[in-house]
Amino acid sequence: VSTNKGLKDWSDLPIGGAINISKVLKDSKLDSITHTNFNSITATNDMKMYALVEHDSIPDFTNVDRLVAYTQKHDMRLFGHALVWYYNVPEWITNMTNKKGAAWADAYLKKYITTVLTRYKDDVVAWDVVNEAFADKSGEFRDEFWFNTFGKDYIEKAFRYAHDADPDAKLFYNDFGHERHPEKLNGIVAMVNDLVKRDVPIHGIGLQMHLEMDTTEKAIANALKLAASTGLLIHISELDIIFNTRDENAKDKPKITTLTHDMEMAQAEKFKQVVMLYRKHVPKTQQFGITFWDFNDRDTWIKPFYDLKEWPTIFDENLDPKPGYYGFLDGL
Ligand code: XIL
Repeated sequence: VSTNKGLKDWSDLPIGGAINISKVLKDSKLDSITHTNFNSITATNDMKMYALVEHDSIPDFTNVDRLVAYTQKHDMRLFGHALVWYYNVPEWITNMTNKKGAAWADAYLKKYITTVLTRYKDDVVAWDVVNEAFADKSGEFRDEFWFNTFGKDYIEKAFRYAHDADPDAKLFYNDFGHERHPEKLNGIVAMVNDLVKRDVPIHGIGLQMHLEMDTTEKAIANALKLAASTGLLIHISELDIIFNTRDENAKDKPKITTLTHDMEMAQAEKFKQVVMLYRKHVPKTQQFGITFWDFNDRDTWIKPFYDLKEWPTIFDENLDPKPGYYGFLDGL
C-alpha cells in the first residue's frame, strides 16, 4: 500500500472511520491515515447530544463545523451519530423533563432534531436517529430516559422529526450485540419491519459490530442476513474486534494482556471474514459501508471504557497498519 492509496481506493464500498476531529487536526499522522483510508467519517462523540447541548438548549456547533470542513476538503461522506441515545442525555434535559413533563421533552426533542438537521442538510448524508433502544442482551426495550418518558413512541417521533427536517437524509436505527443475542436481533428486526409497515421514515440499520474474537462466522452471517431481510440499507457502523470479553458473566476468565503474532494473524482473518460476509449476505444495493470505530489501537475507546488491555483495530499504537488492515483489504 503506497502512501497515497488506502482502503477506500480498493473497493466501491464506502469505508468509514470514526474520529475525534480535534485529535485528527492536531496529529498529522492520524490526519494522513484518516483521509488516505476512509471516504466516510463518523464522529465518535462530537455530534452527540451531550457534545452539542451539554449545558444549554442552544447547540454549540464548533466541532461539527470542523467535521464538515474536513470532510469537504477530502471529499468524504459525513455520517451523523447519534441524535437520540439514552447514554448521552445531558442532565439539564432530564431535570427539565422531571419538572415540566413529557410534553416539554417532546417539544425539545423536535426542536433539537430540527435545528441540527436543518443546519446540516447539505453536509450530512445519513443519521443514526435512534441508538441502542434495546436492552443489552434481550428483545426488550431498554429501561432508560426516553423509553421511560414516552414508551417506545419516542423512536417513531425521532424518525418523523428527522425526516421532516431533512427529507433527503438516510435515517438509521443503530444498535449492538445482534450477533451474540438472537432475541435482541429478532426484536430489532421486528421493530424495524413494523416501522416500515407503518410508513415511518426509516432507511437503514446500523450493526455496530463491536465483536469479540470468539464471535462465530455463523453468528455474524445470521445478523447480516436477518438485518438485510428488511430490505433496508445496512451499515456496519462501529467495527472493532477484542480478544478479551466484555461479558460480565465471564469476569473470572483470565485476562489476555499481551498481543502475540498468532493473535494478530487470527484477528486479520476475522476482519477479512467480516467484510466477506458483508459482501456475501448484504445485496449490493443495500450496502451502505463499513465503518471502523476509532480504527487505531492508541485511540480506541475500548481500553478506557472497559478498562482492558486491548488491540481491537486495524492500526497499531504507532498508527501503522496491522495484519488486520491487510486482512480487511484482502476481503474487500
Ligand atoms: C463511545 C465513544 O467511543 C466513547 O469515547 C464514549 O466515552 C462512549 O461512547 N456504541 C455507540 C458509540 O453507539 O457512540 C459508543 O461510543 C460506543 C458504543
